[in-house]
Amino acid sequence: MDKNHKRTLVTCALPYANGPVHIGHLAGVYVPADIYVRYLRLKGEDVLFICGSDEHGVPITIKARKQGCTPQDVVDKYHGIIKKSFAGFGINFDIYSRTTSRIHDRNASAFFRKLYDDGKFIEKESEQYYDEEAKTFLADRYITGTCPKCGNEKAYGDQCEKCGSTLSPDELINPRSALSGSQPVKKKTTHWYLPLDQYEPWLKDWILEGHKEWRTNVYGQCKSWIDGGLQPRAVSRDLDWGVPVPVDGAEGKVLYVWFDAPIGYISNTAELLPSSWEKWWKSEDTKLVHFIGKDNIVFHCIVFPSMLKAHGGYILPDNVPANEFLNLEGDKISTSGNWAVWLNEYLEEFPGQEDVLRYVLCANAPETKDNDFTWKDYQARNNNELVAILGNFVNRAVVLTHKYFGGEVPGNRKPEPVDAETLSQIPALKKAVEDNIEHYKFREALKEAMNIARIGNKYLTDTEPWKVAKTDMDRTASILNVSLQICADLAVVFEPFLPFSAEKLRHILNVDIKAGADHRAGEDGTCGENIFKAGESAALHTNRAETAELTLTWEDLGKDSILPEGHRLGEPVLLFSKVEDSVVEAQVAKLEAAKAANKAAAREAEAHRAAPQKPECTFDEFGKMDIRTATVLEAERVPKTDKLLKLTIDTGIDKRTIVSGIAEYYTPEQMLGRQICILANLQPRNIRGIESKGMILMARQADGKMRFITPEETLSNGAEIG
Ligand code: 2FM
Ligand code: ZN
Repeated sequence: MDKNHKRTLVTCALPYANGPVHIGHLAGVYVPADIYVRYLRLKGEDVLFICGSDEHGVPITIKARKQGCTPQDVVDKYHGIIKKSFAGFGINFDIYSRTTSRIHDRNASAFFRKLYDDGKFIEKESEQYYDEEAKTFLADRYITGTCPKCGNEKAYGDQCEKCGSTLSPDELINPRSALSGSQPVKKKTTHWYLPLDQYEPWLKDWILEGHKEWRTNVYGQCKSWIDGGLQPRAVSRDLDWGVPVPVDGAEGKVLYVWFDAPIGYISNTAELLPSSWEKWWKSEDTKLVHFIGKDNIVFHCIVFPSMLKAHGGYILPDNVPANEFLNLEGDKISTSGNWAVWLNEYLEEFPGQEDVLRYVLCANAPETKDNDFTWKDYQARNNNELVAILGNFVNRAVVLTHKYFGGEVPGNRKPEPVDAETLSQIPALKKAVEDNIEHYKFREALKEAMNIARIGNKYLTDTEPWKVAKTDMDRTASILNVSLQICADLAVVFEPFLPFSAEKLRHILNVDIKAGADHRAGEDGTCGENIFKAGESAALHTNRAETAELTLTWEDLGKDSILPEGHRLGEPVLLFSKVEDSVVEAQVAKLEAAKAANKAAAREAEAHRAAPQKPECTFDEFGKMDIRTATVLEAERVPKTDKLLKLTIDTGIDKRTIVSGIAEYYTPEQMLGRQICILANLQPRNIRGIESKGMILMARQADGKMRFITPEETLSNGAEIG
């Protein structure tokens, strides 16, 4: 391991607190980060693990409007749900705070103010859309209109969700305010911009020359941003939800959410460690790593580092191992479309199965390209790998030891070459696990860890101690001794990946494990090492009174005799259990139901979609139309047609005939005596040999449903409309 540093600061993207977190979050960011942190701690490193909720930004205000509550209500609710979900999966941040905290407000404000005072911003006036009815500037998300690329009439001012195009509000055809529905106007407003163009030479040098080792997807995105030419970026917004811009005259303006959120990493560190946070952020011997998803790359590799550079005094990330996206059953995960596996629901529906999801999401992590999660794959990986290999091996070794040796590790009484050959493969696998984790290749690392279980399982299958025991207990003792050494390896190597199962395994083997301390207790806690006792959870910090006689460390992994002869094992329990077809079928059905509900909602929306506006007409053109009230006196079907009714109506001017295509909607009887509105001066037309003089006015919905336009109360016939 390259060790030019004394400590590692690991941050995870702060999730928006406007919905629960789902498997995409876990696979993309939090599981890999947690594996990394657990691994470093097992190696005895000093690591700080920081996260929290991102509680500002426009989507939160939109959610609040939809739900008829305040943005604070929204973030309070989801902050709690998200925090609990992470804890449920054993992702134990040293602190999980929030960007609505007071300390963050002060910190983000001070950060902005320093850049402002140092003249690092450009102040610029621009024209932004303004809603005159709601008396407010409109964030891009609050402007809807027709997408110029695909014609979707419900595109947003920043993005069309139908075709995926990134848009600016100016590109929208027929823009409307989502607040009042009115047509927004352009109004001047002043904002502060970070002139990223000025940081371009430095970024080129720092990233393109200095960080060629970053993942190809990360490096490639940075390169294309930089090569495309960086532009000044506004760091403030006209909005009433966020950290107020700390400048006189900036009332009604807040820091842009992407300005304040990454500062949240610093604020949360300072909240946890009020007098020692600076060594984590300002000391060159701290290694800073940001775990994020690919949509956050530009902010963590270009914008935030430029902010830190502009401020001065801060270290920069050593690496930003961003993952690609995880899809679900072939489709993009969609929060609004409920196309997701929500972590809070999984925890409720699959108690005790946290590691199964951690395993599947790591084994199939979207590290180099987008990947797909399917419930079939979940089942297959659980049944064929966790149950059939890891669980099966451990269970056989431990149960046989209880059966033949009273639960005590037997001595290596009769070794054979296959024993040494088997054990000799493990150090190389350990090295592969280490190298891969240290290079952020968690999928590969997990594969190598699993190979240790595979080796054990094959060894046991090949040596068949249950048969050997009939004739040769000495040989049986050796086989089980070797097998138990491998079980001990597994209890160590799986601690970063499958913390709940590793803990169970330690309980089964009656061993503890030693790891570098976490910092959850803040400055009041000890920062020495942690011993996680057998049966105690490194994941959950449950307490158990007894201490096992044996404490393992990462360094024990791969040694030939970790468990000494005579060591008493704990009780055997199953590590994993089979996932039945019915379980995955139920999950797929749940998703299908969500999809069907979405389709129905889309159809419903489509049915009520307003047709696009027709080209403008002048007042004079409109004035030519003579629209009046009239009453139906007689009605009959036009023979040999399905759609036409012949109506005799009293227009107040005369009695006349109008032929109308409404027979599909109304019977002649329903028409009698009804007051309607007509276009009286429409040129007469001959329809099926009948002269029709005028037209009945009807409102038509997108799905074809038609209704008469009728005055609110009965008026005299011939009353003019306009
Ligand atoms: O994409 C997101 O979910 C953002 N809330 C991530 C913010 S990361 C950091 F900058 F806080
Ligand atoms: Zn579009």
